[in-house]
Amino acid sequence: MNLIERAVNGGMAWINERAPGLMPVYRKHMSEYYAPKNFNLWYYFGALSMLVLVNQIVTGIFLTMHYKPSALEAFASVEYIMRDVSGGWLIRYMHSTGASLFFVVIYLHMFRALIYGSHQKPRELVWILGMLIFLTLMAEAFMGYVLPWGQMSYWGAQVIINLFGAIPFVGTELTEWIRGDYLVSDATLNRFFALHVIALPLVILLLVVLHLGALHEVGSNNPDGVDIKKLKDPATKIPKDGIPFHPYYTVKDLFGAGFFLTIAAFILFFVPTFGGLFLEHDNFVQANPMVTPLHIKPVWYFTPYYAMLRAVPDKLFGVMTMGGAVMILFLLPWLDRSPVKSIRYRSMISKVMVALFVIAFVVLGWLGMQAGSTTQTWVARGLTFFYFAFFITMPIWTRLGTFKPVPERVTMHD
Ligand code: HEM
Repeated sequence: MNLIERAVNGGMAWINERAPGLMPVYRKHMSEYYAPKNFNLWYYFGALSMLVLVNQIVTGIFLTMHYKPSALEAFASVEYIMRDVSGGWLIRYMHSTGASLFFVVIYLHMFRALIYGSHQKPRELVWILGMLIFLTLMAEAFMGYVLPWGQMSYWGAQVIINLFGAIPFVGTELTEWIRGDYLVSDATLNRFFALHVIALPLVILLLVVLHLGALHEVGSNNPDGVDIKKLKDPATKIPKDGIPFHPYYTVKDLFGAGFFLTIAAFILFFVPTFGGLFLEHDNFVQANPMVTPLHIKPVWYFTPYYAMLRAVPDKLFGVMTMGGAVMILFLLPWLDRSPVKSIRYRSMISKVMVALFVIAFVVLGWLGMQAGSTTQTWVARGLTFFYFAFFITMPIWTRLGTFKPVPERVTMHD
């Protein structure tokens, strides 16, 4: 045994003696958590979401050291971070680019669940907790975008908070309560800051712990949708198709993290605002309540829902459509009635529906960024209709067509 090994083992024994309850937790969730051995690249995005979450928290702490949550000083304090604080530009871009990358990995993570039926029984709770994370993340991102107090921060907040005004009877009072004022102001900025830096991150962290706890109770799904717990080694009671999460998947995830960080670094150093997609041009102009930007739009990750909001002429109905588009995702485990989990063995109809859904979602996202001509509005209406039809008719089409036989054991592809 070399010196390092002796030091590590000695340290572990020392901790174990004083906190014997820790080792079983480590075993349950790492070294004796048996994950299916056929994970493919879609299974990187959970770990990557955790990586980005840590990045957001760490860079957020450093930004908070120099940021001033006041309507008078916020914009200038961000400029100060960008120009005068040493390494400030890097921290700020890591945070703002990180926000967009968070949604990239989360959307891919959710899509993986959709194609492999990971939301189906017995993982409904994992999905519900994931959806709660998604909702909190949306609130977190929205409030974060207000903090630099640029034009789009201000007017975006104005538009989104005003949506609550469409709610009958309580609308006006509700918008004033959210803003803490009659218009978006210093009071609004202050409370958004409090929620963005402490309240919502705490909720997200708690939800992530519950999300993983719920997953580890039932075990991970896999690209074949085969239940690996059905076939265990009689002697060891270990699933024949399972491998310990640590070291196998910790090493695999480290490789994924390296690959992801390389792409992230490229974006960060060469195109940090991604041509106005990650940080809009209008947000480099200080908030001015007297000047409305020509074209108010949210950041790309909200634009599919924004396109749905604008597609509906009535304000209340538009808000309900937009809210409904997110809320309907909660029902996915019960809408999907497919007898097989993975898309690999689902019918052609299911494959076509999922492909059309992806196209509809991406085109809606693009439409949400446009000014909104008459033609674009009509296309958005058609796609919004399809979006809802996809989910509402899901109990029917997920059962139609010919399914391929699901293998007994997981399959491996070179
Ligand atoms: C901060 C956000 C999130 C983090 C850190 C996170 C983390 C993870 C991790 C580490 C896993 C296990 C590894 C993997 O399967 O990739 C996982 C699995 C899963 N997550 Fe998330 N997740 C997040 C958000 C979400 C969201 C928004 C949803 C869906 C609404 C979701 C749904 C699922 C499902 C269904 C599984 C089980 C997948 C399977 O076993 O095939 N997660 N998550």
